[in-house]
Amino acid sequence: MNNFIYHNPTELVFGKGQIARLSKLIPADKRIMITFGGGSAKRNGVYEQVVKALEGRDFIEFWGIEANPSIETLRKAIALGKEHKVDFLLAVGGGSVIDGTKLISAGLLYDGDAWDLVLKGSYDRTVPLASVLTMAATGSEMNSGAVISRYETQEKYAFYSNYPVFSILDPETLYSLPKRQIACGLADTFVHVLEQYMTTPGQSRLMDRWAEGILHTVVEIAPKALGETRDYETMSEYMLSATLALNDMIRMGVTQDWATHMIGHELTALHGLTHGATLAIVINGTLRTLRDQKHGKLLQYGERIWGISEGSEEERIDRTIARTEEFFRSLGLSTHLSEEGIGEATIAEIERRFNASGVHHGEAANVDGAMARRILEACL
Ligand code: NZQ
Ligand code: ZN
Repeated sequence: MNNFIYHNPTELVFGKGQIARLSKLIPADKRIMITFGGGSAKRNGVYEQVVKALEGRDFIEFWGIEANPSIETLRKAIALGKEHKVDFLLAVGGGSVIDGTKLISAGLLYDGDAWDLVLKGSYDRTVPLASVLTMAATGSEMNSGAVISRYETQEKYAFYSNYPVFSILDPETLYSLPKRQIACGLADTFVHVLEQYMTTPGQSRLMDRWAEGILHTVVEIAPKALGETRDYETMSEYMLSATLALNDMIRMGVTQDWATHMIGHELTALHGLTHGATLAIVINGTLRTLRDQKHGKLLQYGERIWGISEGSEEERIDRTIARTEEFFRSLGLSTHLSEEGIGEATIAEIERRFNASGVHHGEAANVDGAMARRILEACL
């Protein structure tokens, strides 16, 4: 294993009725700004629970952080927070609200335009933030990352700041999610694990088994999570799987990839396609294009997750990649760019962007513009 430092300070508060603990979890003297998305929290009763828990406390609200949070909206939240001298942020929503709030938490202590911080990539002077999670997918509730968009230039970049102080995970909040969001959340969770697992084999048995445990769980619960009635145990496993897939736990001492995510972010920036939906397409292209580089891990994954152990190694890898694509289709997601009306013009633009910024993504730092083109062409 490689050297590493693991320090995840987020307190996880899990289960039914836990939103009521908010008042105890946030220090009494704080001037709070609560941030929300477009309104789902009002429709499903989460808003009511939050304001009830914080009755008598000093708070203001900011509504309207959109899916794929934009700097344009976040600038307004930062201005409001500065005006009210906010010193604690509570994000109520999915990854987008939490990510956006991470940028607000840095922007409140920065004098310039917060987009500078996104371009810088990180900023560690932050106002404390916490979350009430209502959509399981990104792990943002227990990591330090955020992904921020700039709509006017169709850009979308990762930014790192601080971990939430605490996050409340009540699986009942997920009952109101549309099926497509759950499908995208399951796909995002699955691909987060693959980004940290589908690399060089033999680095850590322990990390492999933890990663495989999450993959198995997601595959097992997917049909029930997408079923007609919402089941508490299923939603609990879904919610915790998403958190554990990206809270630094399964990456200790091992290499990571993330090329699929970097290409997926471009598809969202250019087409507005939901994050998990971009991954359900791109991952297949990544596996097909980099199958030689990922040969050993593809065999291990095929055998342990999909029970594929017969035939030549190349046949087993063919079936493993096909089985993976089938899984995403079983969630009701597209697995080809053409199904989303995306073609050559977008591939050319992503190739141009990667070349212009000189990036080399992926475990082997070989996903540049030309390789991104090959990956995208492999999922047309
Ligand atoms: O805005 P509202 O009205 O709240 O509706 C949201 C939104 O439209 C809705 N929703 C959330 N909770 C709901 C609900 N609807 C009904 N019932 C509920 N309980 O769901 C929609 C999507 O929400 P969003 O927060 O955008 O989804 P998700 O959690 O998938 O977040 C996606 C964003 O996170 C970034 C993605 O790039 C994308 O911008 N990511 C963040 C990461 C991180 N911080 O570590 C890593 C990920 O790889 C990802 O890139
Ligand atoms: Zn993701």
